[in-house]
Amino acid sequence: MGSQFQFLGLYFWVVFCIYSSITVESQNVSGGGTIEGTVLINGSASIGRIDDDFICATMDWWPPEKCDYGTCSWGHASMLNLDLNNTVLLNAVKAFSPLKLRLGGTLQDKVIYDTGSPPQPCTQFVKNSSELFGFTQGCLPMSRWDELNNFFKKAGALVIFGLNALNGRNLSSDGSALGPWDYTNAASLIRYTVNKGYVIYGWELGNELSGNGVGVRVAADQYASDVLSLQHVVEDLYKNSDVKPLVLAPGGFFDAGWYKQLVTTIPKSLDVVTHHIYNLGPGVDTHLIDKILDPTYLDGEANTFSSLQSILKSTATNATAWVGEAGGAYNSGHNLVTNAFVFSFWYLDQLGMSATYDTKTYCRQTLIGGNYGLLNTTTFVPNPDYYSCSSPCYNPACCTL
Ligand SMILES: *[C@@H]1O[C@H](CO)[C@@H](O)[C@H](O)[C@H]1NC(C)=O
Ligand SMILES: *[C@@H]1O[C@H](CO)[C@@H](O)[C@H](O)[C@H]1NC(C)=O
Ligand SMILES: *[C@@H]1O[C@H](CO)[C@@H](O)[C@H](O)[C@H]1NC(C)=O
Ligand SMILES: *[C@@H]1O[C@H](CO)[C@@H](O)[C@H](O)[C@H]1NC(C)=O
Ligand SMILES: *[C@@H]1O[C@H](CO)[C@@H](O)[C@H](O)[C@H]1NC(C)=O
Ligand SMILES: *[C@@H]1O[C@H](CO)[C@@H](O)[C@H](O)[C@H]1NC(C)=O
Ligand SMILES: *[C@@H]1O[C@H](CO)[C@@H](O)[C@H](O)[C@H]1NC(C)=O
Repeated sequence: MGSQFQFLGLYFWVVFCIYSSITVESQNVSGGGTIEGTVLINGSASIGRIDDDFICATMDWWPPEKCDYGTCSWGHASMLNLDLNNTVLLNAVKAFSPLKLRLGGTLQDKVIYDTGSPPQPCTQFVKNSSELFGFTQGCLPMSRWDELNNFFKKAGALVIFGLNALNGRNLSSDGSALGPWDYTNAASLIRYTVNKGYVIYGWELGNELSGNGVGVRVAADQYASDVLSLQHVVEDLYKNSDVKPLVLAPGGFFDAGWYKQLVTTIPKSLDVVTHHIYNLGPGVDTHLIDKILDPTYLDGEANTFSSLQSILKSTATNATAWVGEAGGAYNSGHNLVTNAFVFSFWYLDQLGMSATYDTKTYCRQTLIGGNYGLLNTTTFVPNPDYYSCSSPCYNPACCTL
């Protein structure tokens, strides 16, 4: 019975993809009548191929004290304090089975894993404007890592974990981080994870340290050698495992020269090249909606996708491209814009555009937290964009284009 229904579903889906002609009617908001248009979808040849589980969302580290422009929008949505017992949260993640979840963000490079190796006090992030990123170093207790992994397993999520790439480096006054990554603490987290039998889909090195960086940067040749270190750690610790997690990097803003150098230096060591997108500018901008509804503005991001695609095509590498984090408007988005229906015009456009340039997975900032969550931060109830990415019929990017 199951296969019969599956077959019917597939049939409808193929018909939909090949012969789609959708009539769209919308009210003219300025008070006129109805505007009618027809959307034709040419499904006779594919123009790109995405991962089966293209949709991904992020979880961040920001504590409740993280505020932007006088608004504190994170509440208890951090990996460290989110209520993992909430049934709405569990079901929202489960509904995708599987949903990719990328864990990371600005503070990830200042997190210490409390594995006891090396021994360090496990202290929480404290707000301090003289510190890099406005907070002190933070810490992930292993008891919390256990809870998170139990939740991911129950929810059927595929986890991509961002590692602390600033560990062991010294910051110079010109904004660069010097020296190699000290991977001992990360290796000890990975060892703990393997020993516990927790399945991790990918280990990603660093957050926004590429190119000019955001606050701090690491040179591409140094980064390449750090990714090699990560690859060796992963190969070593998973040598007895059937399934090896992916190695991802650098999780930063696209900079053609920097990315090209990284990929050409270690073409065989990287499974996924990740980049971040905040193409609408700061969340405080009062003209965000104008940009979201302007197709020409939105198309500007195609240059980045296209440039990364040609770097990967012209290099003898198996690495694929993912958007590892995209929230549209940086500094936590904008309440009633990036968590409202209008934001679907940005989100759906991004999903489709990225797919046509061979992006395999697209991680939305955030699953929950900030003003751009797929879920409401306090109630966990889905915001409109949750539905944008959960229905293949509404979202053409969810099928193979
Ligand atoms: C929408 O309605 C206004 C006011 O009636 C009219 O001026 C405008 O041309 C209409 N726009 C479209 C796209 O039909
Ligand atoms: C649909 O795509 C195919 C392959 O790219 C092309 O040959 C054909 O002309 C297209 N059909 C229409 C109606 O544009
Ligand atoms: C969540 O559930 C677990 C297991 O039932 C329980 O030990 C824990 O205290 C609960 N946490 C919260 C925040 O309710
Ligand atoms: C904030 O950080 C600076 C630099 O690390 C340190 O000197 C200062 O004591 C800290 N302030 C507080 C209130 O802890
Ligand atoms: C960082 O600074 C410390 C203290 O000044 C020094 O001992 C260490 O060698 C430096 N490390 C690198 C990688 O430059
Ligand atoms: C890269 O891809 C080729 C062709 O798909 C495959 O034969 C090869 O094993 C892959 N290499 C690695 C290192 O994954
Ligand atoms: C989230 O839920 C709270 C409580 O119901 C509500 O006040 C708030 O407006 C919601 N936020 C959004 C963006 O819908």
